[in-house]
Amino acid sequence: MSTDAQENYRDTVAQSLADPRAFWGEAAGLIDWITPPTQVLDETNPPFYRWFTGGRLNVCYNALDRHVVHGRADQVALIYDSPVAGSKARYTYAQLLDLVARFAGVLRDLGVTQGDRVVIYMPMVPEAVIAMLACARIGAVHSVVFGGFAPAELAARIEDAAPRVVVCASCGVEPSRVVPYKPMLDEAIERSAHKPEHCVVLQREQLTAELGERDLDWKQVMHPDAVAPAEVVPVEATHPLYVLYTSGTTGKPKGIVRDSAGYAVALRWSMTNLYGVQPGETWLCGSDVGWVVGHSYIVYAPLLAGATTILFEGKPVGTPDAGVYWRMIQEHGVVAAFTAPTAIRAIKKQDPRGELIGDYDLAPLRALFLAGERLDPDTWRWATEHLGVPVIDNWWQTETGWPIAINPLGPDGATFEIKPGSPTLPTAGYDVQVLDEKGEPVPAGTEGAICLRLPLPPGTLPTLWQDDERYVSSYLSTFEGYYLSGDGGFVDEDGYVYVMGRTDDVLNVAGHRLSTGSLEEALAGHPSVAECAVIGVSDALKGQVPRALVVLKAGIELDDAGREQLQAELVQRVRAEVGAVAALRQVDVVDALPKTRSGKILRKTMRQLADGQEAMVPSTIEDRSVLDALEQVLRGR
Ligand code: COA
Ligand code: AMP
Repeated sequence: MSTDAQENYRDTVAQSLADPRAFWGEAAGLIDWITPPTQVLDETNPPFYRWFTGGRLNVCYNALDRHVVHGRADQVALIYDSPVAGSKARYTYAQLLDLVARFAGVLRDLGVTQGDRVVIYMPMVPEAVIAMLACARIGAVHSVVFGGFAPAELAARIEDAAPRVVVCASCGVEPSRVVPYKPMLDEAIERSAHKPEHCVVLQREQLTAELGERDLDWKQVMHPDAVAPAEVVPVEATHPLYVLYTSGTTGKPKGIVRDSAGYAVALRWSMTNLYGVQPGETWLCGSDVGWVVGHSYIVYAPLLAGATTILFEGKPVGTPDAGVYWRMIQEHGVVAAFTAPTAIRAIKKQDPRGELIGDYDLAPLRALFLAGERLDPDTWRWATEHLGVPVIDNWWQTETGWPIAINPLGPDGATFEIKPGSPTLPTAGYDVQVLDEKGEPVPAGTEGAICLRLPLPPGTLPTLWQDDERYVSSYLSTFEGYYLSGDGGFVDEDGYVYVMGRTDDVLNVAGHRLSTGSLEEALAGHPSVAECAVIGVSDALKGQVPRALVVLKAGIELDDAGREQLQAELVQRVRAEVGAVAALRQVDVVDALPKTRSGKILRKTMRQLADGQEAMVPSTIEDRSVLDALEQVLRGR
């Protein structure tokens, strides 16, 4: 850990905050522009800040064409490694460009033009990446929906994004079963008021989907005789590259908008300056293209950097064993890997002594990055001890698109001392402040709401999809001049950030962000349920799992068997409406839910009781005896 590197990085961050125009203006040189921007930061319409206005570019060009032009045509861009499908494939930059340009041609021929939306509902197959980049090529806005979401969630996204075309696969391959995606898409379209004109379906060998009138077969439309490749369409710097829906507290997902130029610049900068990956090197990000980590660090950042990215269709354990990450690191020569703490906890559970790690040569590996949920110190220690490389926590959100806090990886390892439990220091461009209820900064070491002073750096959300008002009310209205992250925590005397958990009711299950509102809506739809509440309780493997408390409609009395039946039906409803990823297992039937006098359910108090913590009971509680009656149920799980 060199003090020079530390000083340099601190200077970089200080400069990015003192003179963002100079800092990001210089970083803009990392990407190719069709027309350079006239303004680096456009502050004419606060709180709606815009980056690189006046500039024109194409993100797909930056991710593919320019590498082909500059000598990387034969370098592998994408490695598909699927233990569940039993297949592997490698695509050079030239090959990937050919496929992307062709699929862009398919979309163009289906009438997709700049600004049109395309929903992508696919498992971890190369065609998902091809479809994303094809949209970027013609200025269409992609919206990828995680394959683990059920029809109702997919329908909500289709309705909001109003896509002209949906791209999907016939199925996903989970270790325990083949998941038919196409019938779920059909059901979602049925439920949605908006109907796409066409669906392009990738038929996988594990399951062939039935095609209807609006459906087209991927292989047929992609045949070189059937389509001519599409040229790059130049777009404005602020043109939306994608919309990615994420969970808030209500059942209505938030459409996070990502601009083109800010994102391309920030990601390209982050790949070398934060993750320490150089062009030509191989990188493994074990997430899913349905999540922001997948968008940014499976697809865009490594390709913008001219690196080789791995698309892994499998699980950290069971496909076939807890050594699969280590196998890929050896086989593909991975220099840095990125996954969620849950994945490491799953590996640790199966291989507590890390014996499988010893079966592989991990010499090229320089670091393991972990994000998506809090990295608990035990998991950090285990990984550090067994891997012998820096294990680096990084904190960010779908909204930001890239890390708010990280310990940057330099040539000599982590730049700063690692303090377990902290993602280290704020990243360039992020002015992190911890505020109390009145919006005043708190002293070091004191917990509060973690906020980011505006403007946010490039790459972060400029707004919500067609909903400026909700953008302001959700994020900017609590404390003027700040973005409210929704996370609570503190900053210590050395400036290290500690993120302790959400201050709202957003759930984080195995690194998957879910809304209590969606789960509650699914439960409330059952004819016997009068009222319900979902809380996220601590779980040794998944970090958090949901737990439901339901109150029956008046007059419904159930014996033990009846309760069991109801519980099973409710678990099934959540699987069917939200998706299996919600992992709801525990449902308790209770007499009443504790509320404040204004009717707000005391989810946080219940969560504290369930986690065996000291419960903070607000003075505004309506009826204390309701909470007392629940204490037994909640504590005794
Ligand atoms: N399509 C369809 N179904 C899916 C799915 C997908 N893309 N992803 C998950 N599911 C289903 C699973 O099959 C499972 O169904 P089941 O209840 O019938 O078995 C359910 O959703 C829960 O899946 P998962 O969250 O993967 O839990 P698990 O218990 O099977 O595995 C882990 C546990 C820890 C191995 C797994 O959660 C994991 O790999 N976590 C890492 C998460 C991650 O990378 N997050 C991204 C943020 S960086
Ligand atoms: P998502 O938008 O799905 O990426 O989820 C973002 C949320 O995950 C954040 O608001 C945090 O609550 C949590 N999170 C992500 N990374 C970390 C981390 N490194 N430490 C603590 N919490 C994290």
